[in-house]
Amino acid sequence: MTPAARQPAGAPAEVVLRAEGLVKTYGGVQALKGVSLSVRRGSIHGLLGENGAGKSTLVGLISGMRTPTSGQIWLGDRQVAGQDVKSMERSGVFLVTQEPMIVDQLSVEDNLLLGRWPARRGFIDRRALRREATRMLEGAGIAPDAPAGGLGAVEKRKLNILRALFSGGEVIILDEPTTSLTVADRNRLFDFMRELKARGVTFVFISHYNEEILEICDAVSVLRDGALAGESSDVGRLDSDRLSEMVLGRDLALFHRVRRSPQSLPREGGFQFRDVRAPGVAVADFAIAPGEIVGFAGLPGSGAKDFARCLFGFPPARSGSVFVPDASGPARSGSVFVPGASGAAPMPRDPREAFRAGIAYLSDDRRRDGLVGIRSIRDNLVMSSLDALSSLGWIDMRREEETAHAVFRRMGIKAPGPQTPADALSGGNQQKVCLGRVIATSPGLLVLDEPTRGIDVGVKEDVHRQIDALTAQGMSVIIITTDLDEMVRVVDRVCVFSGGSIVESLTGSDITKERLRAAAFDRSAGAGKGASQP
Ligand SMILES: Nc1ncnc2c1ncn2[C@@H]1O[C@H](COP(=O)(O)OP(=O)(O)OP(=O)(O)O)[C@@H](O)[C@H]1O
Ligand SMILES: [Mg+2]
Repeated sequence: MTPAARQPAGAPAEVVLRAEGLVKTYGGVQALKGVSLSVRRGSIHGLLGENGAGKSTLVGLISGMRTPTSGQIWLGDRQVAGQDVKSMERSGVFLVTQEPMIVDQLSVEDNLLLGRWPARRGFIDRRALRREATRMLEGAGIAPDAPAGGLGAVEKRKLNILRALFSGGEVIILDEPTTSLTVADRNRLFDFMRELKARGVTFVFISHYNEEILEICDAVSVLRDGALAGESSDVGRLDSDRLSEMVLGRDLALFHRVRRSPQSLPREGGFQFRDVRAPGVAVADFAIAPGEIVGFAGLPGSGAKDFARCLFGFPPARSGSVFVPDASGPARSGSVFVPGASGAAPMPRDPREAFRAGIAYLSDDRRRDGLVGIRSIRDNLVMSSLDALSSLGWIDMRREEETAHAVFRRMGIKAPGPQTPADALSGGNQQKVCLGRVIATSPGLLVLDEPTRGIDVGVKEDVHRQIDALTAQGMSVIIITTDLDEMVRVVDRVCVFSGGSIVESLTGSDITKERLRAAAFDRSAGAGKGASQP
């Protein structure tokens, strides 16, 4: 490893990275309006701000991915603004992106070496490298000879960080590294970061979770509308409310759903699934009432995500049946979906069939969800509601336009207008498009996998209010989220999955963060063994 020099005890912490008056303009739009920042060596520096505030743009400039329109960047006493990624990496600054850049076919160790080769001139002492790699990987609890493709999400993230360090990285930038990680995985990533920090490594860390910033950061800079809205070099003195206030420029009003008891929900008119079998899934019976919000909880591999996917035929279940409620029933007036017939039907064979049965699904992967970057936000917004907007094969252009504008406004998408290409949106605003799109189809059953990933603290609460309002009109919702706080605040009931089946159902005051955590962890040992595999 190439640990950065440690500070002598008592000396004032050295500024390793400094930015001054950074401006970035895209076309006519100023994404950054003169931002300054000082990062101390061996610290974890948080970057916080609303969707589109400029966080990714800022780290893009610092890492050499993008060129500043104006402004200066200093590494130690060297001015480096305008250098490209390779030069910045040679200077020790690495942006570790969310999509792990790992060659699955190679061993873990070869992946580490891969990063090193271009960085060295001439002679490579492979044996020394191998010794060094082995030592680093052992420290991280990763087997050097394991195939990289078999690593879990956290291990891949760790490996990316190690590769940066192995190539001489001193400042590691992480843009929302914890998105969709389970609580346990996130804690493991944080432990790893703390260990490296103790060895003098510096981190710049972007997150939308206040508690993560409070837990792991030493200092924080908050961006709002491309400008610095606040900063602190003593995060210990802040709390979550204060952080939200810095981000939003106002207090955050947390949403709490008035939880509905099973007794208070209509008995008739909901979706019901029976004997659903798919790889990793064996669910005998699952029913959801009109207007009900059910959370699916469970570890990766527990079947929660797989079951949610096969409700949408994505991929289809091997067997099973669905009872689709009558769309014209009183419980669903206001809903636009018109299933072919109500009553028992085979499980949907593909998303189109599911969609016709009134089931909509948001996957946890924007790219798989089919966000088309080069198409406009408007086109992306109406894509899945085309069925609903067309009658007898005619697309009602006016209605399409109205829908797109309504969703654009309702989701508070930050862009010049609906004609902007989706590519030009910040990560969180892309997520708003995907979410807005499925909501716009007015489904009878909405299945949401990590709906608020990457969405800022303010918008998250708006999204929950919108979903809550739609359930009042009879829409049923299934939600999967690794954010347990969110789960507790928005659901009526939680189904805990293990080994492909629903093993526990929580309602009322039993739905607490502690119970959710325990339910998911306690069963991990037996996961995959308890239930009969289909
Ligand atoms: N390639 C681009 N072309 C045009 N505008 C862009 C481009 N990339 C980013 N922008 C704009 O710059 C602004 C800042 O975007 P940025 O991605 O830095 O936000 P962010 O703070 O990372 O947000 P998020 O939390 O959603 O990831 C946004 O208004 C965005 O639309
Ligand atoms: Mg971003």
